[in-house]
Amino acid sequence: MNHEKIEKNVGLLGVLTAIVISVGGLVEIVPLYFSSQVTDPAPGVVPYTALQVEGRDIYLREGCYNCHSQMIRPLRAETERYGHYSVAGESVYDHPFQFGSKRTGPDLARVGARYSDEWHRAHLNNPRDVVPESNMPGFPWLATTKVDSDITARKLKALRMVGVPYSDADIAGAKAAVEGKSEQDALIDYLQHLGLASKSWKN
Ligand code: HEC
Repeated sequence: MNHEKIEKNVGLLGVLTAIVISVGGLVEIVPLYFSSQVTDPAPGVVPYTALQVEGRDIYLREGCYNCHSQMIRPLRAETERYGHYSVAGESVYDHPFQFGSKRTGPDLARVGARYSDEWHRAHLNNPRDVVPESNMPGFPWLATTKVDSDITARKLKALRMVGVPYSDADIAGAKAAVEGKSEQDALIDYLQHLGLASKSWKN
């Protein structure tokens, strides 16, 4: 009887559907805010340095995420190739996270320390110099463009507002930490940091 009333009244059906979906959503989402596995950094995960924050912003600006994911799935084929699968606690300082799913190139979540800085310089200037069959575009201008050190402190402050534990000293020293560095220096520092914490975890 009641069911028929709901089915014949589209407004009521809409409202009740919205309530059911909201409750279902809350039941799934709210516990995540309180689960330490999701909110606490995984062992060894530390906030990015000022230079790495700048490098990460260059990674976003240049659209590296259009071809590279940072999310290793818990599947044998992935862990054999890349290393430990990605865990939520690795992304607590990433705003926004860079999981992605498009893999024109390899996943980069564990690329830190895989190559030398010099390899990255050559690769970013012209990927084909080190990987002849590569179809990754070159980013040679990063080597000659300096990081804009005037806004680094403000970036750290903004990240602190969303929970990254930067100290006043980190923020005060941010400008000096990136002054004179090229965008390529910053990007490579960021890349070399990716996945380092996971090296000590057991697969
Ligand atoms: C159009 C797609 C594309 C874009 C955009 C792109 N890449 Fe790549 N990238 C690739 C491909 C394909 C490879 C594999 C061949 C190679 O090593 O060059 C690769 C390889 C890499 C590797 C080596 C990974 C490994 O494990 O061997 C790194 C590091 C890398 N890219 C960083 C970047 C960065 C940083 C950016 C942005 C500045 C970027 N890529 C933008 C396609 C892309």
